[in-house]
Amino acid sequence: MSLFQRLTVVSVRPETRDAVVVTFAVPPEHREAYRYEAGQHLSIRADIDGEDVRRSYSICSAAQDETLRVAIKRIDDGLFSSWAFEHLKPGVALDVMAPAGHFNVPLVPEARRHHVAFAAGSGITPILSLIKTTLKAEAHSRFTLIYGNRASSSVIFKDELADLKDRYMGRFNLVFILSREHQDVDLFNGRIDAAKCDALLKQWVNPEDIDVAYICGPQLMMEQVRDSLIGNGIAKSSIKLELFGTAMNGAARKPRTATINGEAGCEVTVIHDGRSQQFSVRKNGPSLLDAALAHGIELPYACKGGVCGTCRCKRVHGEVDLDNQFALEDYELARGFILSCQSFPVSDRLTLDFDQET
Ligand SMILES: Cc1cc2nc3c(=O)[nH]c(=O)nc-3n(C[C@H](O)[C@H](O)[C@H](O)COP(=O)(O)OP(=O)(O)OC[C@H]3O[C@@H](n4cnc5c(N)ncnc54)[C@H](O)[C@@H]3O)c2cc1C
Ligand code: FES
Repeated sequence: MSLFQRLTVVSVRPETRDAVVVTFAVPPEHREAYRYEAGQHLSIRADIDGEDVRRSYSICSAAQDETLRVAIKRIDDGLFSSWAFEHLKPGVALDVMAPAGHFNVPLVPEARRHHVAFAAGSGITPILSLIKTTLKAEAHSRFTLIYGNRASSSVIFKDELADLKDRYMGRFNLVFILSREHQDVDLFNGRIDAAKCDALLKQWVNPEDIDVAYICGPQLMMEQVRDSLIGNGIAKSSIKLELFGTAMNGAARKPRTATINGEAGCEVTVIHDGRSQQFSVRKNGPSLLDAALAHGIELPYACKGGVCGTCRCKRVHGEVDLDNQFALEDYELARGFILSCQSFPVSDRLTLDFDQET
């Protein structure tokens, strides 16, 4: 199957001044491939002034719904998000990759868990899907959302969250943290940072009562909340992170951990979609993803910056140097997963399998 399918936009709904909610139609023949888990994202491709531009957008609909929906927040001077605001209308067809990502935990219908999410700005998108999907799938579990914004006018999904609060009274706890609008409870004013998280864990959510924590927002907020959660006794393995972008985007390579002399080459075998293909690459050359693409091998990717995880594959044989990586968890690294956009060959031979999920 081709990496992208053309999906037609069926609706574009303004959510705030800077965010739109986009719903796609999935034709019956692609329904299975586009079935998703809460927390997953879509890589979307558009031709913008002759350039192949790819970006990832998290799914905000519930996994049990027969709906495929994302929310796009416009970034000042953002290439794709500005284009999307101008061009996306019902009837427009876009190239969309099948859902991907691991920002979730397996759902257990009989579980009695407390899921807690920290979101800021557009980071609410995958969290909304997680809330809706989890509350539906786990009838005895609870969900607490700590959601940071500047003011109530910039809160994405304000109405939908209020509806969820009414529908799941007693199981859904919603806390808005606002940085530029005063609220009566002082704890809820300001930004979500390490101090705020510590205070919330002292006064609002008992850390001993947290089974799973999800964090999605800017890099600094995510790191501070993660460190606070760990400092308050929550196991790292119970914390799920999703990063939308990083200040490191486009940053220079880190120094190699392995010394590569001269023009040594590596023979690479790539397994993708059941097909095995070979090519050679200089060890001091481009990333394994770029080398494969240059050899005409079509592989999944979006950000090329080690953030989205779309280019994830398993290193079955050989050694690589993995540069910037923000998408893989410790257990995935331990199992041999790498990001091909940030990996450079070290051994003389390598086998990379894009078909392995676990
Ligand atoms: C797994 C994943 C899921 C994502 N889900 C969503 C989502 O649900 N909704 C959504 O709106 N975006 C989401 N993003 C971010 C999205 O992919 C784009 O990066 C974002 O829309 C900006 O793209 P652009 O082309 O408009 O901006 P670019 O032209 O790529 O960037 C313009 C400027 O904005 C900065 N920038 C890039 N991304 C961001 C950001 N997220 N926040 C603030 N500044 C940024 C850049 O550093 C640059 O200076 C997700 C990203 C990832 C990796
Ligand atoms: S393409 Fe996004 S992590 Fe490699």
